[in-house]
Amino acid sequence: MHIEVAKSIHVDGIVNLQKLCFPSPFPEDCLWTSDHIERHLATFPLGQFVAIVDGIVVGSASSLIITEESWRSHSGWMKTTGGFLFENHDREGTTLYGADISVHPAFRGRGIAKQLYLSRFELVVSSHLDRFGTACRTPGWLEWQVARRDATYPEYCLAVVNGLVRDRTLTPLLRCGLQYHGVIENYMEDNESGDGAALLEWKP
Ligand SMILES: CC(C)(COP(=O)(O)OP(=O)(O)OC[C@H]1O[C@@H](n2cnc3c(N)ncnc32)[C@H](O)[C@@H]1OP(=O)(O)O)[C@@H](O)C(=O)NCCC(=O)NCCS
Repeated sequence: MHIEVAKSIHVDGIVNLQKLCFPSPFPEDCLWTSDHIERHLATFPLGQFVAIVDGIVVGSASSLIITEESWRSHSGWMKTTGGFLFENHDREGTTLYGADISVHPAFRGRGIAKQLYLSRFELVVSSHLDRFGTACRTPGWLEWQVARRDATYPEYCLAVVNGLVRDRTLTPLLRCGLQYHGVIENYMEDNESGDGAALLEWKP
C-alpha cells in the first residue's frame, strides 16, 4: 500500500469507493461525481490523496484550505466547503479542512486512514498552515440513543471520546491523532448521526 497525490487516472476509483463507503441511508446525492473530483484536482491538487494497493484505489481523502473565519464559524459542511466543488477553497487560509475520507471496506483496520491522515498532517506543516480541521460523522448515535431517551448528542460524542462507546467512524478518527472540540448540530443530512458531527482538530 502506498499513498500518493490523486490524479485524473484515479477519478473512477475514487467515485466507486464513495459508493462502497457511504451506503444507504447516507444520501446518494451527497456522493462525489467524477466532475466534482476533477474540479478538486484542478482547484487544489496537493490536497487530494489516494491509497493504492496493486494499482487499485482503496482509500481517498479530499481537502481544501479555508480561512480562519470560516474555521471559527464551525458551520455545516456545505457552507464550510462551499459545496461539492470546494468553492470556499482559499489558498491564503489557515486551515486544511478535511471534506471526506474513505477506505474500502475490505481494507479497513490496516492503518490506511492513519497513513492518509499522516499525509494530511505533513501537508499542514509543509504549507505552514495553522491546523488540520474537520467534522466527523458519528453513525453509532442513532442506535445508541434509542435506549436513552433523554441522552443528548454531545453526551454520545463524549462517551466515544472517553472510550465508553465505540463509534465506527469517530473512534478511528480520534485514534488517527485528532482532538475533539465539541459538536456541530445540523452539519449535514445524515440520519445515523442525527445530522450532527464531531468537531476535530490537529495542530502541528
Ligand atoms: C473511518 C475509516 C476512514 C477508518 O479507516 P481505516 O483505514 O479502517 O482506519 P485505520 O485502519 O487507519 O485505523 C485507525 C485507528 O482506528 C482504529 N479503528 C479502525 N476501525 C475501527 C472501528 N471500527 N472501531 C474502533 N476502532 C477502529 C484502528 O485500530 C486504529 O487505531 P490504532 O492505530 O490505535 O490501533 C473507514 O472506516 C471508512 O472509510 N468509513 C466509511 C467512510 C466514513 O465514514 N468516513 C469518515 C467520514 S467523517
